[in-house]
Amino acid sequence: MRTPIVIANWKMNGGLAANANLVSGLKKQLVGQQATTIVICPPAPYLAQVEQLIESSNIQLGAQNASEYSVGAYTGEVSLKMLQEFGVQYVIIGHSERRVIFKETDQQVAEKCKAVVAGGLVPVICIGESLEERQQGNAQIVIKKQLQALSLEELRGSFIIAYEPIWAIGTGETASPEQAQEMHEFIRFQLRELLAERADSVKVLYGGSVKSDNAGQLFAMPDIDGGLVGGASLQAEEFFAICRAAG
Ligand code: G3H
Repeated sequence: MRTPIVIANWKMNGGLAANANLVSGLKKQLVGQQATTIVICPPAPYLAQVEQLIESSNIQLGAQNASEYSVGAYTGEVSLKMLQEFGVQYVIIGHSERRVIFKETDQQVAEKCKAVVAGGLVPVICIGESLEERQQGNAQIVIKKQLQALSLEELRGSFIIAYEPIWAIGTGETASPEQAQEMHEFIRFQLRELLAERADSVKVLYGGSVKSDNAGQLFAMPDIDGGLVGGASLQAEEFFAICRAAG
């Protein structure tokens, strides 16, 4: 019922030559691959380049962040309207790197989600607990609080949830398929509480050290609908193998 989706988050990596290389390698491998939705989220300055590079392929374009404001004196910010002009369809919101390093609050994350949906794009909303929170046995409490703060019931458009345990991001330490499934099942339950039957169409992705050698087991879990991939999305063959594992 939910088409699998794999999203590449390049984070602050790339360059004109490297991007061209990576996307052309990926396009060659992806010929005929239809079962999975594939999205690339490059750094904002490269959106125009990647929009052109993915032409005549089934790869879609995403952004790593967007402003909650629509226009005006907000130095350094990028609006939804600007992203739309470059064919962006998805926007990562509330990534833990933005929450932790750039101090984005739950309220700001909720505002951004509202702005993305109002702009007709799909927010990929990141949630996840820290190592300390998990060790204290509070992982589910944290996730429930993050979900409730989003006012999902007020969003009038589709959105995706990405569960990314912070302790698994860029560390090489992946949540085991069972650990991830347990949290995804909990998230699905919370979504049903908030959204009733609408919850069943919401995709819930796993992120955190997804690689070709663990993707198959993670994506086989019943409540995992795909992945949000950082480091491993920077190599064409590795990323392609992850996409193939999704379906
Ligand atoms: O957005 C992607 C996640 O932060 C995961 O990053 O695959 O490098 O652990 P990673």
